[in-house]
Amino acid sequence: MRLADWGADAPLLRAVREAVFMIEQGVPAELEWDGLDPDCAHALALSARGEAIGAARLTPDGHIGRMAVLAPWRGQGVGRALLEAMLSEARRRGFPQVALNAQTHAQGFYQRFGFARQGDEFPDAGIPHVRMTLGL
Ligand code: COA
Repeated sequence: MRLADWGADAPLLRAVREAVFMIEQGVPAELEWDGLDPDCAHALALSARGEAIGAARLTPDGHIGRMAVLAPWRGQGVGRALLEAMLSEARRRGFPQVALNAQTHAQGFYQRFGFARQGDEFPDAGIPHVRMTLGL
């Protein structure tokens, strides 16, 4: 797990997100590539062989998102490492809180880290989401 730079690491970060969001979940390209990536901090998880297996980002306004772990690598702590990297980057930047729009099925994952749900479910890219926040 390491912090990543969109300029250098975009092909690896894009490959993970294409596999998880576009191919597995059916998110259209124009929603996945929203233009924010060059301005975000990124985290990239690599296997021991150097394959890209996970990705996440932190936007300049303190939103964590695009958390993705390739299906065969889930349940092994990769998502935890990505989220902890983004939280520590948010603290380093002095953000008082972080927010995210969680796919509803993943809210239990974020709750483990202290995120609290705010308000009602809403659709985004055809997938049910809930807003969650965490004070830092
Ligand atoms: N609901 C509740 N708890 C969950 C969970 C879920 N969907 N997914 C993982 N957890 C728990 C794990 O059991 C583990 O608990 P532990 O610390 O007590 O052992 C902890 O959260 C960390 O799990 P980890 O193995 O690090 O998670 P992961 O590598 O499987 O990554 C996701 C989690 C959500 C990033 C991954 O499932 C994924 O990429 N899903 C598809 C894309 C997606 O939906 N992303 C979320 C967009 S909001």
